[in-house]
Amino acid sequence: MKNIVILISGGGSNMAAIVRTAQQQDWARTLGARVAAVVSNKADAKGLAFAREQGIATEVLDHRAFDSREAFDAALAEVIDRHDPAVVVLAGFMRILTPGFVARYAGRLVNIHPSLLPAFTGLHTHQRAIDAGCKFAGCTVHLVTAELDVGPILEQAVVPVLAGDTADTLAARVLTQEHVIYSRAVAGLLQKQ
Ligand code: GAR
Repeated sequence: MKNIVILISGGGSNMAAIVRTAQQQDWARTLGARVAAVVSNKADAKGLAFAREQGIATEVLDHRAFDSREAFDAALAEVIDRHDPAVVVLAGFMRILTPGFVARYAGRLVNIHPSLLPAFTGLHTHQRAIDAGCKFAGCTVHLVTAELDVGPILEQAVVPVLAGDTADTLAARVLTQEHVIYSRAVAGLLQKQ
């Protein structure tokens, strides 16, 4: 069985969308894959409760307990490797990862970013798209490389920016598309493993 390990920091709606798609499409049978664990750097991440309800193993590793990014990432890799991952999925995991961590999972570490990369890397993507007068916004699933939000693009989806949009209304529109493309991209990656 190919194990998927999903990293979250908050609501975990992308994680939940992947878990539900895996159930609906019976990934165990069709892809020989399952979501083996959900790992969070925050004990109060809302998504953890959903994962537990689904019978998925959960782990919490608080980054504040570590002196350096390197020390946190080394401990994080240990936690992840306990679940023997074929694919590691960053789903709203709001930590910058060290080059060593990224290299360890090269080619099987994916991220979703709420913009049409290469536009608007980093934070506050929706407000920046509105401020720039963009007529379209969207989201991108990409392989993670050492540079933030820059790895090879696997999937994108586009939504319109509507008159009167706020960062919140645009984020909600983009998020519905995130839930569609992330599962598809993860399934595609699993097929190649
Ligand atoms: C999503 O919009 C995701 O694209 C974004 O955080 C949100 C997490 O939502 N990720 C980033 O900004 C990464 N730089 P979720 O916890 O409900 O999946």
